[in-house]
Amino acid sequence: MIKRPRRNRRTAAIRGLVQENHLHPSQLIAPLFVLEGKQQQIAIKSMPGIFRYSIDEMLKEVKSLYQLGIRAVDLFCYIEGDKKDSFASEAVRSGNLFCRAIQTLKENFPDLCVMMDVALDPFTSHGHDGITNEKGEIDNDLTLPILAQMSILAAEAGADVVAPSDMMDGRIGYIRHALDQEGYQQVGILSYAAKYASAFYAPFREALHSVLQFGDKKTYQMNPANSREAMLECQLDEQEGADLILIKPALAYLDIIAKIKEQTHLPVGAYHVSGEYAMVMAAALNGWLDADKVFEESLLSIKRAGADFILTYAARRVAENLQKQF
Ligand code: PBG
Repeated sequence: MIKRPRRNRRTAAIRGLVQENHLHPSQLIAPLFVLEGKQQQIAIKSMPGIFRYSIDEMLKEVKSLYQLGIRAVDLFCYIEGDKKDSFASEAVRSGNLFCRAIQTLKENFPDLCVMMDVALDPFTSHGHDGITNEKGEIDNDLTLPILAQMSILAAEAGADVVAPSDMMDGRIGYIRHALDQEGYQQVGILSYAAKYASAFYAPFREALHSVLQFGDKKTYQMNPANSREAMLECQLDEQEGADLILIKPALAYLDIIAKIKEQTHLPVGAYHVSGEYAMVMAAALNGWLDADKVFEESLLSIKRAGADFILTYAARRVAENLQKQF
């Protein structure tokens, strides 16, 4: 036998030389759930190891993420029921929770890349990402100005990147225009370009207390059966001025990541979502698999598919393990 591929797997040193993809903390984004109050750190039942933090506690968490080499966070707000309404008024109130959270983060960690999830679902009483019209539909064009206003507030508070996750048509262009008009040309847009109507988001909705009060999100999030539609969404968002493209969820959509990576010249990210995290943790807590190894393998697969960066609840664990490896 002349060809023996096993020779390149014989020792750890040789395997290291020929490893094609790597994880690095600089390419991980940690999602952060923030809530009102002080000294609050509330566990999320369906996501073991993940908490909702009040702003003061969030700073401690971010400090330790920072020490692990993680340089980017994406913020999600937990809004109390009495502050939610059908217009998502709290989302556009100056000085609201995310404005204060962003400001405090940037004051304490000026180098941190602070991203803000832009969508109405934590703020609407019905849990949808848009405003309903008189027919009870999620109205695209009524929603756009609210998303733009939310983006401006986040930019004003110091966000580096706004991340619209709502899937309304035309929102990237609308937000870009609004940010530029207000002088925030430097604030980037991470577009959730291909976001599927997925059952993997369930733990997230529990975490944010944004469980849908009627219907589903299929009139705006994509059909899991489709892939050409993802190419179209990505192309439109790119034309409208997106700086970064995100695909979501990750593992069940590796083909989409790979295809979009070929189509676009923009950096491509993947969101390894709450359900993907919860499944691994549930099995690990039963002793059925090793969470650290499964996360490493999963994130490597996401990179191999073509993702440049990954938004994941496993960011801390993975970064801790990477640190141990050296
Ligand atoms: C809402 C939003 C969702 C997620 C991120 N932003 C849920 C949804 O669309 O219903 C899901 C993230 C996750 O499951 O981790 N705009």
